[in-house]
Amino acid sequence: MKLEGDIPAACRDGTGQLHVLSAVCPHLGCAVAWNDAEKNWDCPCHGSRFCADGSLIA
Ligand code: FES
Repeated sequence: MKLEGDIPAACRDGTGQLHVLSAVCPHLGCAVAWNDAEKNWDCPCHGSRFCADGSLIA
């Protein structure tokens, strides 16, 4: 699936709100993956982590 030329990443946060974001990591462009245990997005390339809404954790 493509969303305006990007690979979408979708999840629901703790309140049930749906978030649809780009799956492309802003660091160097790897695709993030959902970490269901920690409820955040993880980048497998260099370890960046993002909240459900896409904001940077670390
Ligand atoms: S590309 Fe995601 S942390 Fe580097």
